[in-house]
Amino acid sequence: MNAHRLSTALAACAAAAVGVATAVVAVAQAGKPYASGNAAAGMVLADKACNACHARLHDGNATRIYTRPDRRVKTPSQLAAQVAYCNTQLGLSYFPEEEADLALYLDREYYRFP
Ligand code: HEC
Repeated sequence: MNAHRLSTALAACAAAAVGVATAVVAVAQAGKPYASGNAAAGMVLADKACNACHARLHDGNATRIYTRPDRRVKTPSQLAAQVAYCNTQLGLSYFPEEEADLALYLDREYYRFP
């Protein structure tokens, strides 16, 4: 990925993180949209497609983006929306099942939504 494409992708992913806060309130009551995912599979995908970029943003620490006090994702619906949006914007082409795997992994490992 060249520098221009990377910065475009960064902007898109960051914009999504802000936008999802209000966009998905309607489905917030519906439980976890990714409940049927496979967290172990999600971990493999995160290693492959997500961690390197997040690590670059936070001094080499890939988990910090999910654990920092001012993290943006606050609900399961926002998590699902953020994963889907980044997947599309970054051109990763994961299937909805793989998005569910990723979201379930991130929930269990970092967000720990009740
Ligand atoms: C090209 C770089 C890049 C890649 C690759 C990338 N992201 Fe991100 N991600 C970002 C940026 C930038 C943000 C917003 C950072 C901020 O708000 O400070 C972000 C934020 C997030 C957040 C919200 C974190 C929070 O604040 O709660 C989630 C969840 C997330 N990404 C998931 C993923 C997943 C899953 C993948 C892999 C499928 C992925 N990202 C791949 C750059 C990337």
